[in-house]
Amino acid sequence: GLAAITEMIHTASLVHDDVLDAADTRRGGSAVHKLYSTRAAVMSGDFLLARASVAISRLGKTEVVQEMAKSLEALVQGEIMQLQSTADERLSLEYYLTKSYCKTASLMAFSCKSAALLANHDRESEVAVAAEKFGYHFGLAFQVIDDLLDFTGTSDTLGKPGLQDMALGLSTAPVLYGIDEHPELKTLVARKFGQPGDVQTACELVLDSQGLQRTKELATFHAQAAVDACCSLPESPARAG
Ligand code: FPP
Ligand code: MG
Repeated sequence: GLAAITEMIHTASLVHDDVLDAADTRRGGSAVHKLYSTRAAVMSGDFLLARASVAISRLGKTEVVQEMAKSLEALVQGEIMQLQSTADERLSLEYYLTKSYCKTASLMAFSCKSAALLANHDRESEVAVAAEKFGYHFGLAFQVIDDLLDFTGTSDTLGKPGLQDMALGLSTAPVLYGIDEHPELKTLVARKFGQPGDVQTACELVLDSQGLQRTKELATFHAQAAVDACCSLPESPARAG
């Protein structure tokens, strides 16, 4: 039940995200708003979210309702952080990581923690803390790789558009690391790659830096931290997986 709920929330957020990002494809097909309409996408995302909320309450565990509600708040907060940021914030790796936690990792962290709560572990128990930590690091690794693939993937391999982030004005890990070697990227980040040729120039500068390599290392760090957190869970086929 909890896994299905998490998937419904995730799917609802992506249906809405594709409206916000004006992305035409998802998972190898047309995005919902393209297939039907923006109205249909807004309503079906809302509907999935409503259904998920009903299903959460049916689990009958107040603590899980609280954790999952916090995750919904964080998801929206992450999108807001991405939507309205100052130039200084867009240049900050810390802001990027907090935003990534909110928009992506929080759902995984609170869902994993909820799984522990459903198994009657206390909130502060070693198992619940380790489960949340696993979701936190796993989620960050996931989003950092998603941002790397935006540079390196093609729409064929991704099943969704590539090279989108900078076009949307977003500066992700590869750009932020690229700044160390090419400080001129700062100007482009500050103006959200808004002038003709900005995206192309930024792309070339990032590719001519350690940005992609360092981004991969950042993801590897979080993937390893997720494995470490997993290791303090009791042994089980799920943990081994
Ligand atoms: C994808 O990021 C977006 C998210 C993981 C979160 C989106 C959240 C909202 C739209 C808030 C509303 C939430 C609900 C539950 C209705 P991305 O654009 O970097 O990933 P992409 O490359 O796959 O599009
Ligand atoms: Mg998107």
